Amino acid sequence: MIKYNSKTREFHLYNKYFSYIIGILDNEQLGQYYFGEKIRHKETFSHLFEKKQCETPVTPSLDGKGFTLDLIKQEYPVYGTGDYREPALTIFQENGSRIVNFIYKEHSITKGKKKIEGLPSIYVNDGENAETLEIILEDEVINTKLILSYTIIENYSALMRSVKIINNSNEVLNIEKIMSLSLDLPDTNYTMMQLSGAWGRERHVIEKPLTRGITLIDSQRGTSSAMNNPFVGLRRPNTTLDTGEIIGINLIYSGNFSSVVESDPYDTTRVNIGINHFDFNWELEPGEEFQSPEAVLVYSNDGINGMSLTFHNLYKNNLIRGKYKNNIRPILINNWEGTYFDFNEEKIIKMAESASELGIELFVLDDGWFGTRNDDFQGLGDWDVNLEKLPSGITGLAEKINKLGMKFGLWFEPEMVNKNSKLYEKHPDWIISAPNRHKTEARNQYFLDLSRPEVADYVYESVAKNLRSANIEYVKWDMNRTMTEIYSHGRSFKKQKETVHRYFLGLYSILERLVNNFPNVLFESCASGGNRFDAGMLHYMPQTWTSDDTDAVERLKIQYGTSMVYPIPSMGSHVSITPNHQTKRITSLDMRGNVAIFGTFGYELNPKDLSEKDREDVKKQIRMFKQFRELMAVGDFYKIKSPFDGTETAWAMISPDKKEALVGYYKVLVDVNGGFKRIKLFGLDKNLDYTVTKIGEKKLENIGGDELTNIGLFVGNVQGHGLPEGDYYTELYHIKNLL
Ligand code: GLA
Repeated sequence: MIKYNSKTREFHLYNKYFSYIIGILDNEQLGQYYFGEKIRHKETFSHLFEKKQCETPVTPSLDGKGFTLDLIKQEYPVYGTGDYREPALTIFQENGSRIVNFIYKEHSITKGKKKIEGLPSIYVNDGENAETLEIILEDEVINTKLILSYTIIENYSALMRSVKIINNSNEVLNIEKIMSLSLDLPDTNYTMMQLSGAWGRERHVIEKPLTRGITLIDSQRGTSSAMNNPFVGLRRPNTTLDTGEIIGINLIYSGNFSSVVESDPYDTTRVNIGINHFDFNWELEPGEEFQSPEAVLVYSNDGINGMSLTFHNLYKNNLIRGKYKNNIRPILINNWEGTYFDFNEEKIIKMAESASELGIELFVLDDGWFGTRNDDFQGLGDWDVNLEKLPSGITGLAEKINKLGMKFGLWFEPEMVNKNSKLYEKHPDWIISAPNRHKTEARNQYFLDLSRPEVADYVYESVAKNLRSANIEYVKWDMNRTMTEIYSHGRSFKKQKETVHRYFLGLYSILERLVNNFPNVLFESCASGGNRFDAGMLHYMPQTWTSDDTDAVERLKIQYGTSMVYPIPSMGSHVSITPNHQTKRITSLDMRGNVAIFGTFGYELNPKDLSEKDREDVKKQIRMFKQFRELMAVGDFYKIKSPFDGTETAWAMISPDKKEALVGYYKVLVDVNGGFKRIKLFGLDKNLDYTVTKIGEKKLENIGGDELTNIGLFVGNVQGHGLPEGDYYTELYHIKNLL
């Protein structure tokens, strides 16, 4: 899959889906020749290299003619040598120079992929065919190596990239910017896609045509954030959900990131992604090395769904780990919206009894069980059970819940401390805060400085001691603020700009220890809902609470947007009570269930608040979910109709053998006196016949996969009785090949 031609000095990385071609240029730097659909391998692609001289600065080359860097596609552009586009790397040196010149030295092509120490990354499973190319470049003036790493796995249309710097000099180098990936594309005919939003409306799909200039997608909040996800898509303007080209770029990282998409005066596009260089600097001492996070570059010529499916399968099989990888997850109930802080043991047991009668399998006790945590002004940091509220302790409560036939799970917010806590009293300098400055509070709390090993150890132990004390089989790991006044009291003044990245190295080391030492625990990450929904967290925790917004209509957009990159089983999705607590909207239990089923599925309510009829309906809903949970865990998800394009949404989960599918159809506003509706499905086998059952209604036999693809599935009010369906209308269709 990786070929090197030593005569023409070209690398061709390819599998059945895509080709990626790099050449060593005449000035010994690397040029980017091609990235796109697979092309047949041949001896040389040197004709692809476009070089010319113009009146802008000319870089000397071996043939004596020179060329203009600003005009050529580069593999890993650096600052200061006549390329005026966004550089991927800036190093400030002891003599004040920022000029570097990394030229080709050697390379290696090896089987498999090395683990990236200390950072989340893609791994290769036994039996999988993968190859890694490492290109070693060197700047002789500062005696420093730059290693560009590329991994290709046979069955994915994806290239994993990361960068490492090794300082072999005697001087301290300040890395001011280091992108994980830079990519130059030969034209600008793209529509750019980003996943952006805010609390309660995370990862909405925003698209715009590329225009001359720079677009920056980033986070400076100390979390990957709900505002911008570390993802950029570049699609051709006519690309649809199931046809056409799209390139997707995602960073496996949970901290501050940036991605620049630049359309330049010569009509080429440059895109990069990596740690946000805003307020970042890394002092690299002699002998030290710095490793960037990993970025994933996906190519699809099968439309947006093709890109998403590659991300989903790669993340399900080669990023997510542990017992619950590709496995069904227990149906949970979480007490947060059911009780908020107002609970005691008796109330919790009653909720649990009632939930177990409904068929729920896991009871999760949310915030409020520890220290003096009776509201959100106090207690964070003191992870000992409050025996006044819970006299049997966590141990006793877990036992009682286990006796009801349910697993027990517990909420933590270990990265935080309230001023009003024993921990803060003892260690006021453990928080991220600047000397002699105001300490901004958010939800009345501060960040513990996980960049300091002693703080990271405390945080690990706070959770671990509880996990050792009781039969806890699930943990919700929450994080409810963003960073301000970034400063670490454990670090010299020159290294302050390392704090945020070091925080994440600290967090990842805690999580690595936890998942290894407690392999039976199902971890779900959360950050005020979806403020840290990223591939970094998924490496440790297979699911993330997608949003605090549990309104089914809002969730259509949030889950659809999230599914651009992240797999359905990674999305925490629960049915809550109406009127909805975030929107006050009233939707049917069917609508709420039919949306939540495309996710991990659970409930966020007090079952005692349900009417008798609702209880019966919830039981049916749970039976239905159990029927489809296997399909939901392993199936391929296809987006069919976008909630951002009108009032209808449709999507489907299709089994990998294409013999079974569950289609969700949702119409948030009624069409008065509307016509018949059909939706064309994607992803079915056109040669198979299926039975189509609208859940709760009659079966239609022998419908061809070709019919469902080309003519479509009739949805909505097809009986012609003329009655309006009403707002928030929903249907589920079970499609099955019986042979
Ligand atoms: C955050 C989470 C909620 C809940 C509360 C508890 O807001 O997103 O799900 O756990 O904290 O304080």
